[in-house]
Amino acid sequence: MINFNYTEEHEAVREAARDFAQMQLKPGVIDRDRDMKYPTEEVNSMSELGFMGMMVGEKYGGGGMDTLSYVIAIEEISKIDNSCSVIMSVNNSLVCWGIETYGSDAQKEKYLPRLAAGEDIGAFCLSEPEAGSDATSQRTTAEDKGDYYLLNGTKNWITNGGSSNIHLVIAQTDREKGHKGINAFIVEADWEGVVIGAKEDKLGIRSSDTHTIMYNDVKVPKENRIGEDGFGFKFAMKTLTGGRIGIAAQALGIAAGAYELAVAYAKEREAFGKPIAQHQAIAFKLADMSTQIEAARLLVHKAARLKDLGEDYSTASSMAKLFASEVAMKHTVEAVQVHGGYGFVKEYHVERLMRDAKITQIYEGTSEIQRMVISRNILKGKLY
Ligand code: CAA
Repeated sequence: MINFNYTEEHEAVREAARDFAQMQLKPGVIDRDRDMKYPTEEVNSMSELGFMGMMVGEKYGGGGMDTLSYVIAIEEISKIDNSCSVIMSVNNSLVCWGIETYGSDAQKEKYLPRLAAGEDIGAFCLSEPEAGSDATSQRTTAEDKGDYYLLNGTKNWITNGGSSNIHLVIAQTDREKGHKGINAFIVEADWEGVVIGAKEDKLGIRSSDTHTIMYNDVKVPKENRIGEDGFGFKFAMKTLTGGRIGIAAQALGIAAGAYELAVAYAKEREAFGKPIAQHQAIAFKLADMSTQIEAARLLVHKAARLKDLGEDYSTASSMAKLFASEVAMKHTVEAVQVHGGYGFVKEYHVERLMRDAKITQIYEGTSEIQRMVISRNILKGKLY
């Protein structure tokens, strides 16, 4: 049985994130979503409050907090603005965590302080037009030229694609070696040959900037490779295993945000002589939402806790992401239904949460990928 050991610090993080989301993110969120406007000021505020490098060690200017604090913050921010929470999630759990855990001392000293402070923003560049779920089939190449690698290829669906200064790029260095011929590199966005493509016009998380990025003969210094030669695929997998906890927390926040709006509306709105929350048709929906959201929260917190304890969290993170994202999709649809016609208009916020929910079943590994990870672990003897 896992002991979550919630502390006063966890409660303080929840309160700070909730206040920030309600007071600073909520007022402009509908407009930013409609206009696909990147949340520059809001990201600056997140940086000032320490949300962009929550788990980075204090030595590098980060918050030095545990993963549980991080998922609590992501949940609260995701109740309101999922463009902000994905920007925060990619920066924290993919880019900062990847560099801090597997980077050299020189890489950490050079890149972490600015990333942790939100002065630089990171992007994780794995997906390609023809290598999404099948991550071993990278087409991007990094040719060893002696004291540098020559990087060529195209990455797509890159969160923070236009706003980031630091890219973690996964590329093939030796095709014949399969996944053992893949490496990960720290690439600076202003290097010659880095070309940022157009911003995607998306169904949800519309104010986050998702781009295709082209690397044309980019010279990457040898010292910017992460880890030993051939470590890139494992680097990507290990980093994504942690990243999935962040996305699971995002899905949890979407579901919880929609549920809280549905409860408030159902208690206020009257039909047939009483609040609709007192009609069993609505009351039972709310009961199902509450139960399944709490189950998702337990899975997310379990995965975070296992990571903090240094235990294997591969199954736990995939279970958390799989379940929380399905709960988010199902119950945001139900939250719209509870609101009736009002749920279908932007002013009531639930339609945006419903659109945002979908991406949590897709990015950082689709639901099918999570089932693949869980079922492979079952076959290896890890039943839960
Ligand atoms: N941790 C450590 N090592 C791992 C691992 C993990 N979680 N998963 C796999 N590996 C290792 C394996 O042990 C194996 O190593 P050995 O050969 O030494 O034993 C090696 O990696 C290859 O593993 P597989 O044979 O299992 O690899 P596979 O090709 O069958 O693929 C997969 C596995 C799980 C399907 C993987 O390709 C995958 O996760 N795909 C999804 C990719 C993904 O999530 N993309 C998201 C893009 S990033 C994003 O969305 C960010 C954003 O902007 C929001």
